[in-house]
Amino acid sequence: MTKKLRSQAWFGGQDKDGFIHRSWMKNGGLPDDAFDGRPIIGICNTFSEFTPCNAHFRELITHIKAGVLEAGGVPLEFPVFSCGESNLRPTAMLFRNLASMDVEESIRANPMDGVVLMMGCDKTTPSLVMGAATCDLPTIGVSGGPMLNGRYRGKAIGSGTDVWKFSEAVRAGEMTMAEFSAAEGSMSRSPGHCMTMGTASTMASMVEALGITLPGNAAWPAVDARRARLARMSGRRIVEMVLEDLILSKLLTKEAFENAIRTLGAIGGSTNAVVHLLAIAGRIGVDLTLDDIDRAGRNVPTIVDLMPSGQYLMEELAYAGGIPAVMKRIAHLLHLEALTATGTTLGDRLTDVEILDDAVIRPLDNPLVQDGGMTVLRGNLAPDGAIIKPSAATPALMQHRGRAVVFNDIDDYKARIDSADLDIDASSILVLRNCGPRGYPGMAEVGNMALPRKLLAQGVRDMVRISDARMSGTAFGTVVLHAAPEAAVGGPLALVQSGDEITLDVASHRLELHVSEADLAARRASWVPEERRYRGGYEALYVTTVQQANLGADLDFLVGKRGAAVPRESH
Ligand code: FES
Repeated sequence: MTKKLRSQAWFGGQDKDGFIHRSWMKNGGLPDDAFDGRPIIGICNTFSEFTPCNAHFRELITHIKAGVLEAGGVPLEFPVFSCGESNLRPTAMLFRNLASMDVEESIRANPMDGVVLMMGCDKTTPSLVMGAATCDLPTIGVSGGPMLNGRYRGKAIGSGTDVWKFSEAVRAGEMTMAEFSAAEGSMSRSPGHCMTMGTASTMASMVEALGITLPGNAAWPAVDARRARLARMSGRRIVEMVLEDLILSKLLTKEAFENAIRTLGAIGGSTNAVVHLLAIAGRIGVDLTLDDIDRAGRNVPTIVDLMPSGQYLMEELAYAGGIPAVMKRIAHLLHLEALTATGTTLGDRLTDVEILDDAVIRPLDNPLVQDGGMTVLRGNLAPDGAIIKPSAATPALMQHRGRAVVFNDIDDYKARIDSADLDIDASSILVLRNCGPRGYPGMAEVGNMALPRKLLAQGVRDMVRISDARMSGTAFGTVVLHAAPEAAVGGPLALVQSGDEITLDVASHRLELHVSEADLAARRASWVPEERRYRGGYEALYVTTVQQANLGADLDFLVGKRGAAVPRESH
């Protein structure tokens, strides 16, 4: 090996410090030649038994390590905070930034030349990419892969998406608790993350579209042998990337982000991708705004027919050709010159790709939704923007004027939503506030609030809902999210009163509260901020430094690229 590697600053010295760095590493059985200048590859593992979506990573990492060794590198695993969606309270999003700090500092402080990011459950992908982007070493992503399709009573059922449906069916009296319990045991059948096009699958697709993984990363099921092979090939490839000095910032360009945003529209991906892409861009130093997301997402048809927008699941997307096939179909919308982790351009990568199933990846002239890109809404209710996912919304509600029914926070919502005397009908607009980054805290996935039981009983299945919260990527409905500024910092959402009229007009990107400027000013004058409820510790750091959703909800002092140099020795 001729290239002078970063790790040699630790292992290359013939002095006391070199002795210390090498000697302790040898206690694990590393031979002398592990330190002769071959690439040291850090493998960032988000394994945790509390993160069931990533619980198979101990097995998956064996394939990555094998690949690294085959290519002449030295694989060294390091654990980081595992941000699991299904268990963490009050919301995994509160901890995305904490995990990213762990990743950043672990990479920078340790003697590694390149990094493999093992990602799966929703927040484990952005947190790892954010941390790695800040350091900007050669980096490749390996996702853990989705679970096999759920199956209940002969029908495919999707993670999350069918939970919301079953839950509504129970509330409407159409499903018994015994059936609900049987469905629970039928949904999660194998290792892997949610197999709908929820946030995990979306973010796995985003890192593939950004070009920082090998092709095929997003869709192969966790238990498919091709997942293990992809992991092995990624282990080989990161060693080459180190020798080529193919650092993240060469891949994460503005063009790569635009490719990801267009792919997001094509797959009908999760709204959460918006905050995560903004945060990743902030770390690597790419100027990406909500307006870029709106602009790049325009005129992108949703062609992937997956739940929650459509009917199929990730297994079918894998068999149809996966994200390479999706990108092939929308190639005319992409920057094909973008460089990827394979060392070739996106255009090269797509040359031999075939689309294997037109039912799953629909033709451009028969899309699921003609204009499926994430739509940014603005108006006096969200001057800094709010978003809606058209592919998950009810077309008839995309232009709607209705009377607000306001819930001051999630507790108020839970206390009153099923009350018999709640003054509400199908045309009303549900407004939920104090659920944003600072208000919840952590910007929980509560924006797709369940409908009132009495309206469900009447057959109502969707209503316009507006909040400063997020929603699960597996959820659906005419749901306006991420309203900024949030209510907790005095955004206009704090001023809405039940009975006010609101207009949602997705086609013209408008969200208007029909209250005069004078009345709003009077309400603002008497507005009193909610008392902040946090316990100190990380939560206090988060609440006092988190940015608004339109900026990616990163902590203000974490934005930016700080590199990986550490000139000072430890002894
Ligand atoms: Fe982990 Fe859905 S809960 S991916």
